[in-house]
Amino acid sequence: MIVLESEGIDGKTLGSLVRKYLDIFPVLILKRYIDQELLERCHTQLEALNAIPEDLALNEDGFCHFKSFYPEKSTARYIHHTFKFNSMFLGRNRALAETFDKLKSLYGLIVPNEYSYLGTGRDEQFGLSPEVIHYPSGGGFFSEHVHEQYPQGYGLILNGSYSNDSFECGGVYFRTSDGIRFDFDGVSEIGDVVIFDYGLRHGVSRIDPRSDFTWSLKSGRISYVLPLKRNES
Ligand SMILES: [Fe+2]
Repeated sequence: MIVLESEGIDGKTLGSLVRKYLDIFPVLILKRYIDQELLERCHTQLEALNAIPEDLALNEDGFCHFKSFYPEKSTARYIHHTFKFNSMFLGRNRALAETFDKLKSLYGLIVPNEYSYLGTGRDEQFGLSPEVIHYPSGGGFFSEHVHEQYPQGYGLILNGSYSNDSFECGGVYFRTSDGIRFDFDGVSEIGDVVIFDYGLRHGVSRIDPRSDFTWSLKSGRISYVLPLKRNES
């Protein structure tokens, strides 16, 4: 694992540094890539969206959210709350758009292909899906798993927790091929982006397991991710 400071580095230099380090290290933390003030504005939007009834499918505004508690149909085990958006929705929500656009440009610096948001690239097989995942206090988690490396290559996880007071313990960890576990609890702060080899085993350990369980967005851990998904043909 390596830590890289993003402040004061132009995009081109940042891209070449990130690519160079990722050739050597499977995980990189990019410090302070997104402003805390911007994430606070995003949080205000998420709080408003949280009042909309849950749905698994995007509504006419291009938004949906749903809570998952030990999903029956999946072999993976997790407790989290997912918010999904499409590009039309982002066109009307500046803070979320600015945040995801920055993540998208970072991803563009790392991988050889330039991807559009899901559903917008003409004839493109894959597109980027902007998602926010809230792991609630009182035991939110995602069991250890591994992804197919193709086509994503590298995963991005932006630490978007409202404040560093919104949880006490738990968070993303990685496990190397020789079984050594690296915990990012206490290492990654709000605004930092963890960039990792998508083929590396990882999970999210229980968030504040001794606290009372609550879906409130005021506590728990919030991650912004940008997975590549197949465009519907
Ligand atoms: Fe994952």
